[in-house]
Formats: sequence, C-alpha cells, structure tokens
Amino acid sequence: MTLRTYKGIAPKLGAGVYIDASSVLVGDIELAADVSIWPLVAARGDVNYIRIGARTNIQDGSVLHLSRPSKGKPAGSPLIIGEDVTVGHKVMLHGCTLGNRILIGMGAIVMDDVIVEDDVIIGAGSLVPPGKRLASGYLYVGSPAKQARALTEAEFAFLKESAVNYVQLKDEYLAEV
Ligand SMILES: CC(C)(COP(=O)(O)OP(=O)(O)OC[C@H]1O[C@@H](n2cnc3c(N)ncnc32)[C@H](O)[C@@H]1OP(=O)(O)O)[C@@H](O)C(=O)NCCC(=O)NCCS
Repeated sequence: MTLRTYKGIAPKLGAGVYIDASSVLVGDIELAADVSIWPLVAARGDVNYIRIGARTNIQDGSVLHLSRPSKGKPAGSPLIIGEDVTVGHKVMLHGCTLGNRILIGMGAIVMDDVIVEDDVIIGAGSLVPPGKRLASGYLYVGSPAKQARALTEAEFAFLKESAVNYVQLKDEYLAEV
C-alpha cells in the first residue's frame, strides 16, 4: 500500500500528482499539484508534517523525514519543500525548509533546520549540517557543504527547466496507468 495513514491522517494529493507504486507515503503529507514521486521513495509524516510545493519532483530512493516537537523546540522540525524543486536520486531530506527552484544533487543529505533559499544548487553527495542557511543564487558543494560560486544564467534557467521536464515525464507515466 503506497499511501498509509498514521493516527488517522492520510496523505493529501493535489491535481495531477504522480506517485510510483513502489513508494511509501505515511501520515501528514500534502503534495501540491503536479508533484511527482519516483520509485522507492520513503516519506514519513508521523511525528511532524511534510509539505511539497507544486511541480516538485522527488527522485528514486530518496528518504523524507522530520523531527518531533520537543521542550526546547515546540514546533519541532517539519519538512517543507517549495515549488519547482528537483530532488535527485537517493537524497536524504530531514526536517529542513527548501524554497523554490532548487536542485538537490544525487545522494545529498540536508539536515534539520537547514533553510535553503530560492534558486540554489547543492552538488551531488554534499552534506548540509543542521541549522545552516544557504543563500539564494549560489552553488554549494562538499561535506560539509560550502558556497562554491554564483550560479550562471544557464543554471538559473535549468532550475525551472528541470521541473518542467519532470512534469512532462510524470504526465507520460500517468498516461501508462
Ligand atoms: C557541482 C556540479 C553542479 C558541477 O559544478 P561545476 O562548477 O560545473 O563543476 P565542475 O564539473 O566544473 O568541477 C569543478 C570542481 O568541482 C568538483 N566537483 C564537481 N561536482 C562536485 C560535487 N558534487 N561535490 C564536490 N566536488 C565536486 C570537480 O571535481 C572539480 O574539482 P577540481 O577543480 O579540483 O577538478 C555537479 O557536479 C553536480 O554535482 N550536479 C548535481 C547533478 C545531480 O545530482 N542532479 C540530480 C539528478 S537528475
């Protein structure tokens, strides 16, 4: 079963959402219109919530989770992902907040309370430690991730293009089922 309830709360899906049958989404998760979830994604909205903005794609094998509220942090760390975000293969997103038009490279790890501003690329295999803020318009790479350089005009364009490509791809997959 791909969509599961936790404490009676089931994931909510916007129009045109595509979810591969091998993925598992549990609990308090909301996907906006045209989001795509690719094979073997695990997303668990149990001790906090997950929100994913329109046209964002979460690629194969990625893991999405969050942190529960605590005494020192009453809201805990939900996972909030903006619009037109590309989350590459086998990415770990945990309790962080991502803006719009972001590329998270394959195998990257983004930890609790990280804020990624709009229009950012995080290189493949990077690790973003808890609580860091990544500034809009830059490439970050490494473990721990450091600001490498400003994005080029082509990369700004690519961020939007990548989301459009994935919306087209998921429409083709939706037509298969
Ligand atoms: C970082 C990235 C954007 C390339 O940036 P770039 O500035 O064009 O980098 P270059 O290829 O010119 O390499 C510049 C240097 O960074 C290094 N580098 C490239 N990618 C890196 C990465 N992910 N982490 C650490 N270092 C990296 C290169 O080895 C090179 O090092 P050198 O100068 O010592 O030789 C790209 O490698 C990347 O990670 N893209 C993510 C793609 C992805 O995962 N997409 C999602 C799946 S669809």
